[in-house]
Amino acid sequence: MKKICIINGPNLNLLGKREPTVYGSKSFDVYFEDLKNLYQNIELQYFQSNHEGAIIDKLHEIGFTFDGVVLNAGAYTHTSIAIADAIGAIQTPVIEVHISNVAQRETFRHHSYISAKCKGTITGFGLHSYRLAIESFIIL
Ligand code: DQA
Repeated sequence: MKKICIINGPNLNLLGKREPTVYGSKSFDVYFEDLKNLYQNIELQYFQSNHEGAIIDKLHEIGFTFDGVVLNAGAYTHTSIAIADAIGAIQTPVIEVHISNVAQRETFRHHSYISAKCKGTITGFGLHSYRLAIESFIIL
């Protein structure tokens, strides 16, 4: 059984309540149940933290045993060299995801420190971005 971990960064614990016009009205806990039902043949783990160091610790913890990481680093995408270094330090491939299409938003969201360290990036498909990332680990 493949093991995939979804990691959500800061403010993504508020999905469903946070700016619903941008991020939708479904909580991640509800969406994660949908994913577990869809992918019963994959061991899915979910981790969320608002703290940069905790995200790095999680990447270190799972980054040598899991088959894939789906990472929405939230605003740390645009600021964190430390998370980029952690992705570069582990063996497990990481897919960068964003719910919104960051290229259509403020210019400070156009640069990602983590993209170059990731296997690929999926952005702008709402919560489906996570599913598309999981599919990529199945197909490729
Ligand atoms: C986000 C986009 C980021 O710019 C923002 O800071 C987030 C969410 C997204 O999923 O669209 O917190 O990563």
